[in-house]
Amino acid sequence: MNLTNDERRTLIQAAVEIRKRAYVPYSNYPVGAAVRTKTGKIYTGVNVENAAYPHTMCAERVAIFKAVSEGETEFDVVAVVTNNGGSPCGGCRQVMAEFGLDTIVLIADGSGNLKKEMSVADLLPEAFTPKHLQ
Ligand code: THU
Repeated sequence: MNLTNDERRTLIQAAVEIRKRAYVPYSNYPVGAAVRTKTGKIYTGVNVENAAYPHTMCAERVAIFKAVSEGETEFDVVAVVTNNGGSPCGGCRQVMAEFGLDTIVLIADGSGNLKKEMSVADLLPEAFTPKHLQ
C-alpha cells in the first residue's frame, strides 16, 4: 500500500506520545506502538514490565491485542518507536503475521524519525500463519 508522509507522521506521533506511558522499571527501554486498522482507527500500546521478568508484554502486542479485543483484526500499518529505532522482537513479528503479511511496519526513533519501513513479510520470512492450519 502507498502511505503518505502525513499518514506516517500521524501514526509515528501516536507511538511517540504513548511511549511516555511505558512501564519499564527494569529495562528502562520504553517502547510505544500504534496500529492502524483498515477501518481507520488507531490503537496504541506500550511495553509493560513485571518484577517476574518473563511476564513483561511488548508494546506492539499490547496495541494489537487492544485492537483485537475491540473487534478489529485487519491492520494496514504498525508504528514502533524506541530510543534507538530498535526492531520488533520475534514474538511481535509472529503476532503481526497472524493478522497479515502485507501490514507495513514503520520503525522510528524516540524523536519520531523514521528509520525503516517494511512489510511484515519482510520482517518475518517464511512465517507460520493461519493458512498452515487449514
Ligand atoms: N520490547 C518491546 O516492547 N517490543 C519489542 O519488539 C522488543 C522489546 C520491550 C520488552 C521490554 O520491556 C523491553 O523492550 C526490553 O526488552
